[in-house]
Amino acid sequence: MASDKLKQMQKVARQVEALSESPLYAFRQENQYKAVVGEGNLDAAVMFIGEAPGENEAEMGRPFVGASGRVLSEMLEQIGLERDDVYITNVVKDRPPNNRDPSPEEIALYTPFLLQQIEIIQPKVIATLGRFAMDFILLQFNIPLGGGKISELHGKPIAAQTEFGDVTVIPLYHPAVALYNRNQRKTLEEDFQVLRRHI
Ligand code: URA
Repeated sequence: MASDKLKQMQKVARQVEALSESPLYAFRQENQYKAVVGEGNLDAAVMFIGEAPGENEAEMGRPFVGASGRVLSEMLEQIGLERDDVYITNVVKDRPPNNRDPSPEEIALYTPFLLQQIEIIQPKVIATLGRFAMDFILLQFNIPLGGGKISELHGKPIAAQTEFGDVTVIPLYHPAVALYNRNQRKTLEEDFQVLRRHI
Protein backbone atom coordinates (compact mmCIF):
# COMPACT_ATOMS: atom_id res chain seq x y z
CA MET A 1 0.00 0.00 0.00
CA ALA A 2 2.60 2.53 1.12
CA SER A 3 4.91 1.64 -1.78
CA ASP A 4 1.95 1.92 -4.17
CA LYS A 5 1.31 5.41 -2.90
CA LEU A 6 4.98 6.24 -3.24
CA LYS A 7 5.02 5.09 -6.86
CA GLN A 8 1.89 7.08 -7.65
CA MET A 9 3.32 10.19 -6.02
CA GLN A 10 6.61 9.78 -7.85
CA LYS A 11 4.66 9.65 -11.10
CA VAL A 12 2.88 12.91 -10.19
CA ALA A 13 6.27 14.44 -9.40
CA ARG A 14 7.74 13.39 -12.75
CA GLN A 15 4.76 14.87 -14.60
CA VAL A 16 4.97 18.17 -12.72
CA GLU A 17 8.72 18.36 -13.32
CA ALA A 18 8.15 17.87 -17.05
CA LEU A 19 5.31 20.41 -17.32
CA SER A 20 6.94 22.52 -20.02
CA GLU A 21 3.57 23.88 -21.19
CA SER A 22 3.28 25.80 -17.93
CA PRO A 23 4.10 29.50 -18.32
CA LEU A 24 6.04 29.11 -15.05
CA TYR A 25 8.29 26.38 -16.47
CA ALA A 26 10.59 28.81 -18.33
CA PHE A 27 10.92 30.92 -15.17
CA ARG A 28 11.86 27.74 -13.26
CA GLN A 29 14.54 26.85 -15.82
CA GLU A 30 15.96 30.38 -16.09
CA ASN A 31 16.45 30.61 -12.34
CA GLN A 32 17.46 27.01 -11.79
CA TYR A 33 14.47 26.66 -9.52
CA LYS A 34 12.85 23.35 -8.75
CA ALA A 35 9.23 22.35 -9.02
CA VAL A 36 7.74 22.03 -5.54
CA VAL A 37 5.54 18.98 -5.66
CA GLY A 38 4.95 18.49 -1.95
CA GLU A 39 6.33 16.48 0.94
CA GLY A 40 5.35 14.54 3.99
CA ASN A 41 3.57 11.41 5.06
CA LEU A 42 1.65 9.69 2.27
CA ASP A 43 -0.64 8.13 4.89
CA ALA A 44 -1.24 11.46 6.62
CA ALA A 45 -4.63 12.20 8.14
CA VAL A 46 -4.09 15.89 7.44
CA MET A 47 -3.09 17.52 4.20
CA PHE A 48 -2.11 21.20 4.11
CA ILE A 49 -2.56 23.10 0.88
CA GLY A 50 -0.95 26.49 0.29
CA GLU A 51 -0.92 28.78 -2.73
CA ALA A 52 2.35 28.51 -4.62
CA PRO A 53 6.04 28.21 -3.75
CA GLY A 54 8.01 31.34 -2.89
CA GLU A 55 11.68 31.82 -3.67
CA ASN A 56 13.07 29.73 -0.80
CA GLU A 57 10.74 26.90 -1.70
CA ALA A 58 11.62 27.03 -5.41
CA GLU A 59 15.33 27.01 -4.57
CA MET A 60 14.98 23.98 -2.32
CA GLY A 61 12.16 22.17 -4.10
CA ARG A 62 10.31 21.90 -0.78
CA PRO A 63 7.06 23.56 0.35
CA PHE A 64 6.90 26.06 3.22
CA VAL A 65 10.58 26.26 4.10
CA GLY A 66 10.82 30.06 4.38
CA ALA A 67 9.38 32.43 6.98
CA SER A 68 5.81 31.16 6.49
CA GLY A 69 7.11 27.62 6.82
CA ARG A 70 8.61 28.41 10.20
CA VAL A 71 5.21 29.62 11.39
CA LEU A 72 3.58 26.47 10.00
CA SER A 73 6.10 24.25 11.82
CA GLU A 74 5.49 26.14 15.07
CA MET A 75 1.72 25.79 14.73
CA LEU A 76 2.11 22.07 14.09
CA GLU A 77 4.32 21.70 17.13
CA GLN A 78 1.72 23.42 19.29
CA ILE A 79 -0.78 20.68 18.45
CA GLY A 80 1.73 17.87 18.90
CA LEU A 81 2.47 17.25 15.23
CA GLU A 82 5.68 17.28 13.23
CA ARG A 83 6.00 18.04 9.57
CA ASP A 84 6.60 14.34 8.91
CA ASP A 85 3.17 13.52 10.33
CA VAL A 86 1.32 15.54 7.69
CA TYR A 87 1.47 16.14 3.94
CA ILE A 88 2.18 19.68 2.72
CA THR A 89 1.69 20.95 -0.81
CA ASN A 90 0.41 23.88 -2.86
CA VAL A 91 -2.20 24.50 -5.55
CA VAL A 92 0.47 25.68 -7.99
CA LYS A 93 3.78 23.80 -8.00
CA ASP A 94 6.11 26.40 -9.54
CA ARG A 95 7.04 29.83 -8.24
CA PRO A 96 5.24 32.70 -9.98
CA PRO A 97 7.58 35.66 -10.76
CA ASN A 98 7.64 38.24 -7.94
CA ASN A 99 5.27 36.01 -6.00
CA ARG A 100 2.36 37.33 -8.05
CA ASP A 101 -0.96 35.49 -7.90
CA PRO A 102 -1.05 32.50 -10.23
CA SER A 103 -3.19 33.08 -13.33
CA PRO A 104 -6.36 31.06 -14.02
CA GLU A 105 -4.49 29.31 -16.85
CA GLU A 106 -1.67 28.29 -14.50
CA ILE A 107 -4.10 27.06 -11.87
CA ALA A 108 -5.93 24.98 -14.47
CA LEU A 109 -2.65 23.39 -15.59
CA TYR A 110 -1.66 22.29 -12.09
CA THR A 111 -5.15 21.29 -10.90
CA PRO A 112 -5.02 17.64 -12.04
CA PHE A 113 -1.83 17.09 -10.06
CA LEU A 114 -3.23 18.39 -6.78
CA LEU A 115 -6.39 16.35 -7.29
CA GLN A 116 -4.28 13.22 -7.87
CA GLN A 117 -2.29 13.97 -4.72
CA ILE A 118 -5.49 14.25 -2.67
CA GLU A 119 -6.69 10.99 -4.21
CA ILE A 120 -3.39 9.24 -3.34
CA ILE A 121 -3.26 10.45 0.26
CA GLN A 122 -7.00 10.30 0.95
CA PRO A 123 -6.71 12.57 3.99
CA LYS A 124 -9.34 12.85 6.69
CA VAL A 125 -8.79 16.60 6.90
CA ILE A 126 -7.76 19.12 4.27
CA ALA A 127 -6.47 22.32 5.84
CA THR A 128 -6.24 25.16 3.34
CA LEU A 129 -3.67 27.87 3.99
CA GLY A 130 -4.94 31.23 2.78
CA ARG A 131 -7.83 32.49 0.69
CA PHE A 132 -6.47 31.18 -2.55
CA ALA A 133 -6.27 27.50 -1.54
CA MET A 134 -9.61 27.81 0.28
CA ASP A 135 -11.37 29.11 -2.85
CA PHE A 136 -9.79 26.34 -4.89
CA ILE A 137 -10.90 23.51 -2.59
CA LEU A 138 -14.42 24.87 -2.04
CA LEU A 139 -14.86 25.05 -5.79
CA GLN A 140 -13.37 21.61 -6.50
CA PHE A 141 -15.53 19.90 -3.89
CA ASN A 142 -18.68 21.80 -4.91
CA ILE A 143 -19.01 23.25 -1.45
CA PRO A 144 -21.77 25.86 -1.62
CA LEU A 145 -19.80 28.26 0.57
CA GLY A 146 -17.59 28.96 -2.47
CA GLY A 147 -17.07 32.70 -2.76
CA GLY A 148 -17.27 33.06 1.04
CA LYS A 149 -14.77 35.26 2.83
CA ILE A 150 -11.86 33.72 4.70
CA SER A 151 -12.52 36.17 7.55
CA GLU A 152 -15.84 34.36 8.06
CA LEU A 153 -14.87 30.80 7.19
CA HIS A 154 -11.46 30.38 8.89
CA GLY A 155 -11.37 27.82 11.68
CA LYS A 156 -14.82 26.45 10.79
CA PRO A 157 -14.77 22.81 9.72
CA ILE A 158 -16.79 22.03 6.59
CA ALA A 159 -17.96 18.51 5.76
CA ALA A 160 -17.29 17.52 2.16
CA GLN A 161 -17.86 14.37 0.14
CA THR A 162 -15.22 13.06 -2.21
CA GLU A 163 -14.90 9.94 -4.34
CA PHE A 164 -12.89 8.26 -1.58
CA GLY A 165 -15.18 9.27 1.28
CA ASP A 166 -15.92 12.06 3.71
CA VAL A 167 -13.38 14.79 4.26
CA THR A 168 -13.38 17.72 6.65
CA VAL A 169 -12.13 20.93 5.07
CA ILE A 170 -10.74 23.46 7.54
CA PRO A 171 -9.93 26.86 6.06
CA LEU A 172 -7.00 28.51 7.83
CA TYR A 173 -5.35 31.86 7.31
CA HIS A 174 -2.06 31.73 5.46
CA PRO A 175 0.84 31.46 7.98
CA ALA A 176 2.34 34.63 6.45
CA VAL A 177 -0.40 36.67 8.16
CA ALA A 178 0.98 35.63 11.54
CA LEU A 179 4.44 36.94 10.77
CA TYR A 180 3.79 40.57 11.58
CA ASN A 181 0.49 40.55 13.39
CA ARG A 182 0.11 39.24 16.91
CA ASN A 183 -3.70 39.03 16.76
CA GLN A 184 -3.63 37.08 13.53
CA ARG A 185 -1.10 34.73 15.06
CA LYS A 186 -3.43 34.11 17.98
CA THR A 187 -6.30 33.45 15.60
CA LEU A 188 -4.15 30.97 13.68
CA GLU A 189 -3.22 29.23 16.93
CA GLU A 190 -6.89 28.94 17.89
CA ASP A 191 -7.76 27.56 14.47
CA PHE A 192 -5.01 24.95 14.80
CA GLN A 193 -6.69 23.82 18.01
CA VAL A 194 -9.87 23.30 15.96
CA LEU A 195 -7.81 21.25 13.54
CA ARG A 196 -6.37 19.18 16.41
CA ARG A 197 -9.87 18.18 17.46
CA HIS A 198 -10.58 16.77 14.01
CA ILE A 199 -7.65 14.39 13.71
N1 URA B 1 3.55 30.18 0.63
C1 URA B 1 2.80 29.21 0.06
O1 URA B 1 1.61 29.38 -0.18
N2 URA B 1 3.40 28.04 -0.19
C2 URA B 1 4.67 27.78 0.08
O2 URA B 1 5.12 26.68 -0.19
C3 URA B 1 5.41 28.82 0.68
C4 URA B 1 4.84 30.00 0.94
